[in-house]
Amino acid sequence: MCGIIACVGSDDAVDTVLTGLKNLEYRGYDSAGLAIQNGTDLIVRKRAGKISDLTGGFARELPQGIAGIGHTRWSTHGPPTDANAHPHTSASGDVAVVHNGIISNYESLRSELAEMGYLFTSDTDTEVIPHLVERYLDAGFDTDGAFRKTIERLEGSYAIALMIEGEEAVRAARQGSPLVVGLHDDAYYLASDVPAFLEFTDEVIYLEDGDMVTVESGSLSITDVAGNPITREIDTVDWDPEETGKGGYEHYMLKEIENQPESLSNTIRGRIDPEEPAIHLEGFPRGCFSDVSEVHFVACGTSYHAALYGARLLEEANVRVRVSRASEFTGRIPDPAGTLVVPVTQSGETADTLGALRQAGVAGARTLAVTNVVGSTVAREADEVLYIRAGPEIGVAATKTFSSQVVTLTLLAERLKQDVDGGDGRENLGTLLRDLSVLPDQIEEVIRTSRAEALSSNYSDRDAYFFIGHGLQHPVALEGALKFKEITYEHAEGFASGELKHGPLALITPGTPVFALFDGKHDDKTHTNAKEAQARGAEIIAITASEGTAAFADEVLVIPDTHPDLSGLLANVQLQFVSYYTARLLGRPIDKPRNLAKSVTVE
Ligand code: F6R
Repeated sequence: MCGIIACVGSDDAVDTVLTGLKNLEYRGYDSAGLAIQNGTDLIVRKRAGKISDLTGGFARELPQGIAGIGHTRWSTHGPPTDANAHPHTSASGDVAVVHNGIISNYESLRSELAEMGYLFTSDTDTEVIPHLVERYLDAGFDTDGAFRKTIERLEGSYAIALMIEGEEAVRAARQGSPLVVGLHDDAYYLASDVPAFLEFTDEVIYLEDGDMVTVESGSLSITDVAGNPITREIDTVDWDPEETGKGGYEHYMLKEIENQPESLSNTIRGRIDPEEPAIHLEGFPRGCFSDVSEVHFVACGTSYHAALYGARLLEEANVRVRVSRASEFTGRIPDPAGTLVVPVTQSGETADTLGALRQAGVAGARTLAVTNVVGSTVAREADEVLYIRAGPEIGVAATKTFSSQVVTLTLLAERLKQDVDGGDGRENLGTLLRDLSVLPDQIEEVIRTSRAEALSSNYSDRDAYFFIGHGLQHPVALEGALKFKEITYEHAEGFASGELKHGPLALITPGTPVFALFDGKHDDKTHTNAKEAQARGAEIIAITASEGTAAFADEVLVIPDTHPDLSGLLANVQLQFVSYYTARLLGRPIDKPRNLAKSVTVE
């Protein structure tokens, strides 16, 4: 959802900014640009298309310098054209700005500035920012004063980085959109996300809303909007820069699917003791949820499917639970004192989820974020945080983070069950934890033996694809369909098995593939409904540990036998492969599907 990067004091700002942009391309990829201070001039290069179009188009004329800002865009205001690409500049060209977020009062600011004679050349909300800065410079303010006056006028959300002709400095401000500072010797980096500069430094400062920053070679200052100095802690990030590269894989998505044995091992490390049996969730000891009477999950997209999975586990244990799509959350919580609101979000920056978290806070509920990104806005704003520890995920389609979310929620659900219904939960827990401890090896087995690539080649020419499952397999069916449509661009829908006959069956025609998920516990409805679809010409691809269950199916994708609460994770890996290989056969840009971006920071 747009990525910004800036650097000061690095030997070659162009190289650093371009590296940062490539690392951030998952946040948006419809246009890109940079501005470089070369000692005398502020030089701007930008164009519609991917970063490679920017570097290819200007390869021989990219400027040299030690300070720069860059941007990769996911359009909100105006189509992806050269003119709408960032940086945006003032009429004189002396002010260049990159921005992530939405300036909600841009129309009134634009009219005001246009009336004063400032000429606009793009359709974007961002362009008001350089014109405002210039307006205050023209009125006699110094650079800091002009930037501060500008920030006071903006409404909405923003992470902004700004450069002024003749100054080897970058100024930045944050309100509602992520912005992180990186530090290494005399060099400073500013970015929407840590992976942007991870190969240059692992020392970071997470900025807060209302912070303004100025970086020059060897100097960093952080203030509030009034100019009062602020001290922020320096953190060390423990992500390995190698993790953010493709590591020899053709696509990040394939790398991330095949990384799941490792990422899941990280998720459970130190958290489970199958022999005791016991769960050790850091910060969440036994009894910490004894005042909770209801759990309310809020999430979007794939994270919503993980939340549905967690909710089903709680429901089966008789814990009162609700799940809302974050964008549909009303903020109404009948019993705030007894309700635990759990935003589930990989990035920790999704605007809809953040909005729901804030509403829950206003309603007075206790909030516990389940997220992947340390220092993300959701992690900082929730009362408590439980990290899924999946490591950086770059492919726009979420894969390994879904598995880590589901496993983290499974552990959280066990702790909640113990605290809310008072039982010791030992009966089922030992078996569950034993099966969980070998889950990474079982995923490895699926990766080694999956027939999904061969199977996909038989089915890549169909008009529609359906995914069905009952109980815990229902969210997995929804996730299978979301992944499939997202990267293949083919029509795909996920259904609760029993729902097929209430309407969707009308869509089944001869040859329609129906992926049916079996886990040994919730199978009867899926069996009956898959057969009904088959009787109407559908081809059934069963995903199961029991070939006997699937004897009627046209095709089978086998998964290892495990606890029914974990089976969906193995089935999901098979479905991830089906989506990936179908998209590859169809020649889709798998890591950057059209119209999408990794981190959706606008509502
Ligand atoms: C789909 C996908 C999205 C995200 C959704 C929420 O593959 O990645 O549906 O799951 O945009 O994102 P987070 O989890 O960052 O809140």
